[in-house]
Amino acid sequence: MIHEVIGDRLMAAARAADLFIEKSSMNPQAPVGLATGSTMDGVYQHLEQRGFLPESSDAFALDDYKGLAEGSENSYFTELSKNFAARLGWSGRLHVPGHGPYAGSHGLALFEQTHLELGPVSIQLLGIGTNGHIAFNEPGAAFDSITREVELHPQTRQDNARFFADPSQVPTHAYSQGLATINRASSLVLLALGERKKPAVLQALESPGPLTPLAALLDHSDLTLITDFQL
Ligand code: F6R
Repeated sequence: MIHEVIGDRLMAAARAADLFIEKSSMNPQAPVGLATGSTMDGVYQHLEQRGFLPESSDAFALDDYKGLAEGSENSYFTELSKNFAARLGWSGRLHVPGHGPYAGSHGLALFEQTHLELGPVSIQLLGIGTNGHIAFNEPGAAFDSITREVELHPQTRQDNARFFADPSQVPTHAYSQGLATINRASSLVLLALGERKKPAVLQALESPGPLTPLAALLDHSDLTLITDFQL
């Protein structure tokens, strides 16, 4: 693992965007792996500023909520359609667990199979939750997990309540790539911004185990961790 500390939040996001450009350009036909959430905003903003248009015709999302209305502002399909596809002028296929052909348990199996067949993704962007979740693999998720329905941890629902009109509207369940799915990427870039993320990162590095999902990725041959705090 390579760890880079970049004290400025915007510059840290810009560094992740630069790695996205570098890694995806090394294998332009391969699909790319996207993440959502506040941390990723800066990454997609920077890609737009650089005028970067991914050559790949396929992009895989890490996860999405279960049970939101079609077109909901809070769905990660909507977020990526706006923040990635529309922003960059990219018109490829966006594969999102639980969405379109990937709805239902057959759909989740199809997502996993499509990810296998079209992959590996050249680069997978990752954030981390304050409780250490990676995608929606909450603490305790199996290291060999694949795409499936998951129950959200109360901490995750509390953290993400800021995006919803009322905390009771935060879904209780979601669909998520598993830790084994994520590990298939040719490269991983994990961006952890803000002191609130520090305990989760530290715990995974100092006492890796079943309760620290990041530990599942630490043996990956091309993992870059970017933080805006010292460890
Ligand atoms: C989103 C995802 C999540 C987020 C994490 C951090 O696709 O997979 O694991 O990366 O919840 O979210 P923010 O950046 O909003 O703190």
